[in-house]
Order: sequence, then C-alpha cells, then structure tokens
Amino acid sequence: MAAATADASGIATADAGTDAGAQAPAVPAPATAPGEESTDRDVVFSARHLWKVFGPKADRIPDDTTLTGLSVAEVRERTGCTPAVRDVSFDVHKGEVFVVMGLSGSGKSTLVRCLTRLIEPTGGTLEMDGEDVLGMDRTTLRDLRRRRAAMVFQHFGLLPHRSVLDNVAYGLEIQGVGKTERRARAAEMVEKVGLAGLEKRRPGQLSGGQQQRVGLARALAVDPEILLFDEPFSALDPLIRRDMQEEVVRLHREEGRTMVFITHDLAEALTVGDRIALMRDGEIVQLGTPEEIVGSPADDYVRDFVRDVPREQVLTVRRAMRPAEGDEADRGPALAPTTLISDAIEAVARSGGAVRVAENGRCLGIVDHACLLNVVARMDTTRTEVAA
Ligand SMILES: Nc1ncnc2c1ncn2[C@@H]1O[C@H](COP(=O)(O)OP(=O)(O)O)[C@@H](O)[C@H]1O
Ligand SMILES: [Mg+2]
Repeated sequence: MAAATADASGIATADAGTDAGAQAPAVPAPATAPGEESTDRDVVFSARHLWKVFGPKADRIPDDTTLTGLSVAEVRERTGCTPAVRDVSFDVHKGEVFVVMGLSGSGKSTLVRCLTRLIEPTGGTLEMDGEDVLGMDRTTLRDLRRRRAAMVFQHFGLLPHRSVLDNVAYGLEIQGVGKTERRARAAEMVEKVGLAGLEKRRPGQLSGGQQQRVGLARALAVDPEILLFDEPFSALDPLIRRDMQEEVVRLHREEGRTMVFITHDLAEALTVGDRIALMRDGEIVQLGTPEEIVGSPADDYVRDFVRDVPREQVLTVRRAMRPAEGDEADRGPALAPTTLISDAIEAVARSGGAVRVAENGRCLGIVDHACLLNVVARMDTTRTEVAA
C-alpha cells in the first residue's frame, strides 16, 4: 500500500539544475477575482477554466450551458456525473504558499492532483512555467512529477521496510542518482527537518509527526520547484500539528520554495498561507490574502467560514487607519503598515493617543483606539485603504 502511494505520487522531484531555493519569499499579491489575475509576476502554475468531472461521458459537461449553472447535486441527478472541479482559474506565484481550503468534498484533492495530471482534467487549460501541461507526453509528465513538483500526503506514503534515510533518498533513487550522493543529500534533508540521529529507524518506529517529517524530507530531497501538500497534518495531534505548521513556515522562510497547501482547517490556512483559495462545491468562491478573506469576505458563505477568526491577529493597521488630521502626520511614534491590529493595540495604548502608520518615511494614515476597535468589532468592514 505504502509503495503504491509513493509510486502514484511520482514522489519527488527535483531538478538539480533549478535553483528554486534561491527565490525570495513572495509579497502577497492584491486580491483578484478568479480568472482575472494579472500576469506581471512569475507564475509557476496557471490554470484557466479548469474542470474535472467524474462519471460517464464527463467531457460533455463543461460545454453544456444547460448544466454548468446547476448545483453539483443537480448535475449528479441529471447526468450521473460529479463535477469535482468547476471552471476554476488561478495562478500560483513563484515563492508563495498558495493554500486551497474548503470543507471535505469541495474538490481540493482533485484540484491539486490535476496540477500534475495524477487526475486528468476534463476541460480548461493548465500551464507550468509557461509550458502546456495538458499537452505533455508521458515522459515529460513523469519528469514533472519526479523532479519539478513533489507531493506530501496525509498518510505519509512511506516504505515500511526501509530506513528513514532510504525513504528520504527514494525519489533520488528513482531519478538514478548514485548511492553515495543520494545518501549524502538525504542525510542533509533528515537534518533539515529535525530528525538527525533517527536515520536508521524504520517508519514504524517513529511517531506520526516524525513520519510526516520523513515525508517532508523525501519531498525536499529532490529539490522540487514546487511542493504540493494534500492535508499533510490532518492525522496528527493538535500540538504536533502546530509544530509541523511552524516547520513549514520556517522552511518557507528559509528557502522561499513555492508551495500549494491543501487544508480543510481555517486556522492552518491562515497560519501557512500567503494567499488562500476558498473552495465550495468545486468552485473557488474567493481567492485572496488571509487579511482579504477575513477582512472582506466575498459572500455570506465565506463570512460564515471566517466568523470566529480573531480579527486582530490577522488584519493589519492598513485596514484600520484613517486619514491624518492637522499635524498628526508629522509627529509621534510610527508603525509599519504590516503591523497586526493586536500589536497596534498595544502600541496605541502605550502612546496614549494616535499613532502614525508609515512606510519609507511617508505617513499613510493614523490609527487610534476608535479605529482599531472598529475593525475588531466589525463596525466597518467596508473601509478601504486610505492610501495606496
Ligand atoms: N474517483 C472519483 N470518482 C467519482 N467521484 C469522485 C472521485 N474522486 C473524488 N470524487 C468526488 O469529487 C468531489 C471532490 O472530492 P475531493 O477532491 O476528494 O474533495 P476534498 O479533497 O476537498 O475532500 C467529491 O464529491 C467526491 O466524492
Ligand atoms: Mg481531499
């Protein structure tokens, strides 16, 4: 079983020639409606009007306008087909952590498997680094799965009879890398994910968290351009899960590697994501930064989803500030526009009044008790930025 999973993943990846690790972490891009993304940044995956329909004669569904407007349940009733991914468009930018979030059954796994054609899309277009993925032949596709896009699964997919070191080296072995070199590289990755000293153990002798670290090290060993995670931490205990989330954030900060991270857990999405695509019934209902999703939910569904998020820990002063009055712009302490409301509350309390929000010496606006409280209390969810 484990071997089958590992094999299906095409485990691994990395093209030793690509230097994905040198990418600087991305600054989150402004929100755009699905399908309307700008093209002025480096893009790894670019999907347009992507569909995956399971069932008999699935191909006809995306083009049939009498069906495309119906709910998943209605389509299933009329045709026996399940549209798992419906007309989805997005770009994954180089260096970002792109989170796909949604309830169970919303189409997350199907979508991420479509990216490397572990599941064959039914319609639409898909590019990786500008290359047409849907037109790739078997050899090119295998190479993509082995070297360019590595997958980390919820159930680890480790080989039970192999040591930690050989599990981590597995993807390199498939690539034909020699034993000495692959073991050296594997040892480096074992160390990187905090498992030094456990190289000789079998997966069965490790805790769940440690096994997932092996899965992570194995994916990293091939130095992929992009890491794909399908709910990697869902099976872990909450504390270990938080450890692993921090590990992903740390790795990303150190290497800036592009990641697509699937989760059904909003807190996890907010922790690891630069941008979040929120899915429902196969569609992306909102795509934006954590701050945009929490601060400006696109509809009632999203609003409901983010209702219990502590806003002061996600939203920044950019969303709270008001224009400066009188000489406010010229005096007093200043905060960066990326400062979280929770930190700003402390700063404002300490200053006893209004605090400037400044960037490169320019005052963008002012925050005081009232405007911070308004945001926390959702008094003004429509407030837009005062200055660009
Ligand atoms: N191989 C398949 N055949 C038929 N239906 C499938 C298949 N795989 C997934 N589905 C259906 O597609 C929808 C999306 O599933 P999935 O992508 O696994 O969701 P998620 O990962 O968000 O839980 C669900 O309704 C699921 O039942
Ligand atoms: Mg899934």
